[in-house]
Amino acid sequence: MTEDTKALKIEAARAALANVEPGMKLGLGTGSTSEEFVRLLATRVAEGLEIVGVPTSIRTETLCRELGVPLTTLDETPELDLTVDGADEIGPGLALVKGGGGALLREKIVAAASRRMIVIADESKLVEALGRFPLPIEVNAFGLRATMLAIEAAGRRFGLTGEIRLRMADGKPFVTDGGHHIVDASFGRIPATRAFADELNAIPGVVEHGLFIGLASLAILAGRDGIRTIDA
Ligand code: A5P
Repeated sequence: MTEDTKALKIEAARAALANVEPGMKLGLGTGSTSEEFVRLLATRVAEGLEIVGVPTSIRTETLCRELGVPLTTLDETPELDLTVDGADEIGPGLALVKGGGGALLREKIVAAASRRMIVIADESKLVEALGRFPLPIEVNAFGLRATMLAIEAAGRRFGLTGEIRLRMADGKPFVTDGGHHIVDASFGRIPATRAFADELNAIPGVVEHGLFIGLASLAILAGRDGIRTIDA
């Protein structure tokens, strides 16, 4: 990541912080942009801001503990006011591709439990159609090959072809916080429709996928010309 991109992520995170009010129950996203948000939030907490957060990954949880951000769980606090999270792609209608960091399952559960979701990013994440970034799909380890074939077939039914690849880390299949694997589907331009999302969810071995439709209410994008917001 260049210094410029990092600075833009910080600007988007800073703008999102203006939406945080005392007493809020927050969902805290995963990834480099979300981490900038957590850092800025921690500074406000140190100054006396009272909030509680539900982290969307062990990585975010660890950072929050290091920085003194008070945490809760969705079991203790099942309804949240606001989630702030990054995205791999932001498309029309604020449909998102998420999961590049492998946290899509918890990210989606937390976003769905929140009244509002603000997505923060540098403007390079804004796209005219989703699909340049391979779609992350979280799958159960059991029957992996059969599930990958079923994902391929689901893509074909929507006219999508392309490589379906098991995500690897250090020479082994990547394991999510939930103990599952991720396959990255290079479908190309993805129809961000509920029909396609439902088709993927209907595959028994698919735990969840990285298409976030109808969850984000606001995007805050930082670019060279400043901050721009997009409402859903
Ligand atoms: C994590 O699983 C992802 O959904 C991230 O939110 C996404 O990959 C964006 O990450 P960056 O903020 O690091 O670009």
